[in-house]
Amino acid sequence: MLKRTFLTLCAASAFAMANAQTQYTIAADKVKAHIQPTMYGIFFEDINLAADGGVYAELVKNRSFEFNMPLMGWKEQKKDGGDGRTEVINRAVERPENAHFIKSYITSDAGFYGFSNEGFRGGMGVKEGEEYSFSVIAKQEGDTYVKLNIELHGDNGDIIGKAELMPTDKEWNRYSVKFKSSATTPKAQLYVWMSGKGVIDLDMISLFPEHTWKNRPGGLRADLVQRLADLKPGFLRFPGGCIVEGRELNNRYQWKKTIGPVDKRENIINRWNTEFKHRPAPDYYQTFGLGFMEYFMTAEDIGASPLPILNCGMACEFNTGELVPLDKLDPYVQDALDLIEFANGDASTKWGKLRTDLGHPAPFNLKMIGVGNEQWGPQYIDRWKIFTKAIKTKYPDVKIVSALGPSPEGKEFDLLNKTFRSLGADILDEHYYAPAKWFRDNARRYDNYDRKGPKIFAGEYAAQSVSTVNPDNKNNWECALSEAAFMTGLERNADVVNMASYAPLFAHVEGWQWTPNLIWFDNLKSYATPNYYVQQLFSINKGTDVVPLTLNNEAVAGQNDSYATASLDKNTNELVIKFVNTSTSAQNVSFKITGSKGYQKQATVTTLKAESKDAENSLTAPTAVSPVESTIDISGNTLKLAVEPYSFKIVRLKNK
Ligand code: AHR
Repeated sequence: MLKRTFLTLCAASAFAMANAQTQYTIAADKVKAHIQPTMYGIFFEDINLAADGGVYAELVKNRSFEFNMPLMGWKEQKKDGGDGRTEVINRAVERPENAHFIKSYITSDAGFYGFSNEGFRGGMGVKEGEEYSFSVIAKQEGDTYVKLNIELHGDNGDIIGKAELMPTDKEWNRYSVKFKSSATTPKAQLYVWMSGKGVIDLDMISLFPEHTWKNRPGGLRADLVQRLADLKPGFLRFPGGCIVEGRELNNRYQWKKTIGPVDKRENIINRWNTEFKHRPAPDYYQTFGLGFMEYFMTAEDIGASPLPILNCGMACEFNTGELVPLDKLDPYVQDALDLIEFANGDASTKWGKLRTDLGHPAPFNLKMIGVGNEQWGPQYIDRWKIFTKAIKTKYPDVKIVSALGPSPEGKEFDLLNKTFRSLGADILDEHYYAPAKWFRDNARRYDNYDRKGPKIFAGEYAAQSVSTVNPDNKNNWECALSEAAFMTGLERNADVVNMASYAPLFAHVEGWQWTPNLIWFDNLKSYATPNYYVQQLFSINKGTDVVPLTLNNEAVAGQNDSYATASLDKNTNELVIKFVNTSTSAQNVSFKITGSKGYQKQATVTTLKAESKDAENSLTAPTAVSPVESTIDISGNTLKLAVEPYSFKIVRLKNK
């Protein structure tokens, strides 16, 4: 009896809550802040097989035999009585950037001798009817000629594509041939058979889909870049992340080694190869097939402002923390200056000419550059000063992004924050990997920031469902909704916060080291997380100018478990309202809009919601949590809105 009464009371109070109407006010004629076009962007790092094995569409793993174990990913094969042997040759003196190749001796007239390549995570994603381009750099060594037979093997070892190639030169030369796949599989294997007695040298054995992003040869996975384009990002931060720093300095990212012909881009181990004992990735290397030219071009393709982050003479402080002595920083500083010239200089400059020669005469319009990734300590300040002086002397208009360390508070944060503010820094890069609750609790973080100080770049953030770097973290709805709540605070403070990006971006479902991530993929498919849809909805609905949205004259940042912001979109002549309900109850709300001549009768509503805070998307249910469009009628200047529990709503009202 008691239980029944209690339940009845609960139901009654939930009903009462659902029916009580909270009235918010929007002053549509009082612009508070201009929203920068850069506001919502992308953080890209080659972590979780994001580049090699991911967006870089190369299907062959270890194509140039530069892994520490030069034949990793390859397996010797023989069939029909074929025989031979293979040597791994190191020509480091002659070709330090691509030291290894293989020399195969085909010792039998009969049959075939060769190698198979396992691709990434046990296979290569290929699609029925699509064309693939095999290429190799080869040199015939003896008096006789060795012929290559290329085969693509499907799930049961059946041949699903094949081609022949006869290298004809006694000098190194590149050969290629195209063929179609007759089946779709995420786990095809490539076989490179050799026949005819003789000796042949092979390097850069490669297989690419013909269909890539913009169909560029040797390009990027079109489906994955499309996910980025669909975010309509304001900027693209690259190449990281900790890989900028390297575990040790000799393992840092060096942009000059990532441009030009791919066989001349020096491969190095990926620093995520060994980072987590619980997620080892011994076959994770960087070929730099996705190098700086590709990053700049991708940014341009998707309409994002490029934001390269450069090593500032410091290896990752979570690892070795190696430092370049201050009097030996010149080459590092020069890399930064040369990069600006590479991006913006005309063909009369050394680096501008190189960009032109690489096929891009137009400048990339670089406006900002990061000095260091996630650095901290006085050693960073010392190096930052040297970089800043050099960059500002030569390029006063280029804005410098300065790190504030890995945490949004504490001793290290305070030191950098205070110092860089006193030194007149342009943009401060804050990182927060924190519990979902932290995001809800910090929706007012920027309300009292100095309006005249440096701009803020929320450069890496993601709500962690368990704890940072915990492998059980999920991209669940509670995290995504809490990020949405927090982002209303970013947008409300757009006069201070000029840029924000979720991190990390990509993860291979079988090859990740870090979770959560914005987009998950396998060798063929991908899915966007609820967090992705939150980012996308903020980005495509950011508007141009923030206007006050208040409850009892206060910003809405947690009252009734609600978070909200409003902006004008002067391009489309609309008012955009974002409302986040993080409670388990439905809410009936209304918005009294002042300072407007009125709105067209019908407004559009986009709703992102889930029944449970644990809801996730997956490869099999990719859109379980995804935006749904509807319309709502508005009469006069008051909008009434029914907001479901655990939901994020965006309403766009068109001016009359
Ligand atoms: O996003 C993953 C890592 O988190 C980045 O590489 C680093 O900058 C941060 O610690």
